[in-house]
Amino acid sequence: CVQKAHICVSRSVGTKVVATQAEDSGKDEREEKAGPKSLSAFLVERQEQAERSVLISCHPKTSEKKFLKYLSRHGDIKKHFFYDSYGTYAVVEFSTQDGVRSLLDAAVIPSVSHESAVPFKSRLLSLRTTGAVNQSDQQPGLQCRPQSTVPISELIQTLARQETVDQQIMCLTQAYQLTEENSRLRFLVCSLLKDIAAAYFPECTVKPFGSSVNGFGKLGCDLDMFLDLDDISGRDVQTPKSSLSVEYQMKRATSERAVTQSILSVIGECVDQFGPGCVGVQKILNARCPLVRFSHQPSGFQCDLTVNNRVALKSTELLYLYGLLDRRVRLLVFSVRCWARAHSLTSSIPGAWVTNFSLTVMVLFFLQRRSPPIIPPLDHLRQLAGPADRSVIEGNDCTFVSDFSKIQLQTNTETLEQLLNDFFEFYSTFPFGKMSINIRKGKEQNKPEVAPLHIQNPFETSLNVSKNVNSSQLERFVALCRESAWLLQQRDAPPGRGRRRDPPGLGTGHPAAAVPGGRSQKSKEKEKGTGHANASRVY
Ligand code: GTP
Ligand code: MG
Repeated sequence: CVQKAHICVSRSVGTKVVATQAEDSGKDEREEKAGPKSLSAFLVERQEQAERSVLISCHPKTSEKKFLKYLSRHGDIKKHFFYDSYGTYAVVEFSTQDGVRSLLDAAVIPSVSHESAVPFKSRLLSLRTTGAVNQSDQQPGLQCRPQSTVPISELIQTLARQETVDQQIMCLTQAYQLTEENSRLRFLVCSLLKDIAAAYFPECTVKPFGSSVNGFGKLGCDLDMFLDLDDISGRDVQTPKSSLSVEYQMKRATSERAVTQSILSVIGECVDQFGPGCVGVQKILNARCPLVRFSHQPSGFQCDLTVNNRVALKSTELLYLYGLLDRRVRLLVFSVRCWARAHSLTSSIPGAWVTNFSLTVMVLFFLQRRSPPIIPPLDHLRQLAGPADRSVIEGNDCTFVSDFSKIQLQTNTETLEQLLNDFFEFYSTFPFGKMSINIRKGKEQNKPEVAPLHIQNPFETSLNVSKNVNSSQLERFVALCRESAWLLQQRDAPPGRGRRRDPPGLGTGHPAAAVPGGRSQKSKEKEKGTGHANASRVY
């Protein structure tokens, strides 16, 4: 029996689909590649891979061998993997773009009987099988790479098996960090989005930023991306030497913000109407940073698309650099982010709570305040910058060194356990009432304005990145820091005197206390009584 496979171009079908998050579980096999590659080099490499890749929906029982054999007719396959997200998908990277072109040329237009399809061809495809299926074609199922974190209960058990807090922190980071495959999938989604935007702006790119690329991303985190139109921005344009030259006639708007809004409005509409797999599109054009939010169903990513968000890319680059300077930076940031999420200090819903970005800056500041410091202040990184690093965006000095080898670190041998404990201690006594957290100076500064929590935006220095945080959320943060420091210290306290000494790695005082199932009785009791930790006792 012959089983023929062919690819159908996935098209946007005019039905409403409810957006939900992908949820699956399992262990990740990581191929973490160390080495201080600059963020821009990393972006270029991943973008280039994504351009040579396609995303194919396929039956879970598809024969991998036949699938690859069929695709290989179109070109050499460099890498492929399968994953589950409302169905099984394959990411296939060809060695050259010719492979993609050949496959797309061979793809057929699906016939849709009850609905009408939008005639937009993309690199999101479906594998179709025709002909009788031989019994021997029934496969045991494709090996799928998980794209979401392990269930919390499983993580707690894994953490409990570790001997030291340091091991637990490493284990937690291993379980939560983005995998190589998830990172590739994020770039592929950006590249698919670029194909839509390129209908209007052929020179554009769509770049990921934020936790998808800064080294602090957790599986399942949102996909922040921006439409980069820098090549057609008119910036850095050289005045022609000849006496005659032509220029483009361009429509004008009252401000850059108005241009951004109109671009996002149109692209948002295209994503909504034509983007296969893009559902739940919301245009949030009146935000400080206008954006289009939607779910990309085949990947399960919640996407935020902005335009020309160059300062955000700079802060991403800075976080990326700090994360690579010392391995403890990433490990501590993961622990603190996980702890905060588990205690509902952070949320995926915007509100008066501290954001992951603010928390990360707080960890960086804490590490700058160690003695000796583990990472240098931003001003020091600025002093080390070469001429090529110079960057001024909308009047903000965003210059800092990009060459890692120029950065000399001091010797600090503190353990992760010590740092985690001291992080909680540090912020349980930090004078939030008077002082601002400032990673540019590496020192707290007098607060320039009234806000419960003031964290200076590293590049737009007149802004407070935690402006949204209200006093009750800050109080909860401080109370939980105090309690967590106390819990961690219980591990070292002698038994007796009413204190329970937990076996190493099994106590409430280890990072498992950071996850809901690992919460202390004290915390639960507090929450039961008051609805949240009773922060007023802290002050
Ligand atoms: P998660 O999505 O929560 O995992 O973390 P994230 O770091 O991606 O945060 P978020 O999606 O909220 O924001 C994306 C990026 O935008 C951040 O990494 C920052 O680079 C930038 N960003 C977010 N909030 C602010 C802010 O208040 N000020 C500035 N300057 N940049 C911000
Ligand atoms: Mg994000």
